[in-house]
Parts: sequence; structure tokens; C-alpha cells
Amino acid sequence: MSGNHLVHSEKRIAQLKNIFADEAARSAMDQNTLVYSVQAILPVEQGTEAGLFFGTTSIEPGTVNEEYFITQGHFHKVSNRAEYYWGIKGEGALILMDRDRNCRAESMRPGSLHYIPAHTAHRIANTENTQLVFSACWPSDAGYDYDEILNHGFSYRLLKRNGKPELVKI
Ligand code: PA5
Ligand code: MN
Repeated sequence: MSGNHLVHSEKRIAQLKNIFADEAARSAMDQNTLVYSVQAILPVEQGTEAGLFFGTTSIEPGTVNEEYFITQGHFHKVSNRAEYYWGIKGEGALILMDRDRNCRAESMRPGSLHYIPAHTAHRIANTENTQLVFSACWPSDAGYDYDEILNHGFSYRLLKRNGKPELVKI
């Protein structure tokens, strides 16, 4: 991606404390390991009503113990804001959780389109041995509520069991 209003961010294992189910396994890993990076175009100021943001996330292949590499995951700060994700490269799963902590997963592959409804936390897991790349489009006033997931997690985890992804209640 190129052009104006471009921002880049990276998440390494060191920055993902308490995000994976097995915190002991995460803290024992090389803390410099890259988990995902995001490039986004933010043409208006965060919080502006009726604008749109666009971003592309690349998640590296890997696991923390038996849990696939995932994005941190969040509800939107303005909780009723929705979002689109779509798959570009690689395969994985979009994990969704509503305010009653009901979870479901949608498989993501190149060309798959995912509507993330209002009041729904969302995160992506990379379930293959190659990089997973997806794009997103969301309202510029959606914001991020990371604390809810940091404090309470998702009610289900996507684990690698017998070499295959399995959504497991924690
Ligand atoms: O806006 C989004 O939902 C995405 O662009 C995410 O921010 C991105 O995939 C990184 O995930 P997270 O924000 O949960 O760390
Ligand atoms: Mn979002």
C-alpha cells in the first residue's frame, strides 16, 4: 500500500501478554517473534463521523502451545459499529463473539467476505503454514475496546488438535 494517511503497526509476542490461552507458553517464547502487522489508510481523524478506514493485516504462521497465532481482538468502542473483513491470501478463521459471549467461526480464504455485525468482538486466527493476509473496512468513529477481551478473553479458542483447527470452549 502507498499514499497519504498510511500508518503501519506491528504486534510481536512481547506485546501480546494475556492474549493467548497459555500465557506461560507465550512468555517462554522468543519475545521478538512477529505475530502480525497492519497497514492502514486513515484519511480522516479517528472519531470522525461518517468516514471510512481501510486496513490490511498480515498474520504470520505459528502457534502458542496449541493455539494458532491470532490478532488481539476487540469490540468497537462505539459498540454498534459494524465492519467488513475479506480474505486475500492464505487461510484461517474469523472468530466472532457477541455480548452474551456466544462464539462462532467463519473460515477465511482468498475472496471470502465477512460481515462483522454491531456489538460483536472479532479476531482472526491463521490456521495454515503460510502468511494469512486480509483486508478490512470500518467506520472512522468505531474506535477500539481492547480491554474487554484483555480482561475476559473470548469464550472459545481455536486450537490445533491432531493437526486441524478445533473451536474449543475455555
Ligand atoms: O479494524 C480492524 O478490526 C482490523 O484492522 C484490526 O485492527 C487488525 O486486524 C488488528 O487486529 P486488532 O486490532 O484486534 O489487534
Ligand atoms: Mn474492528
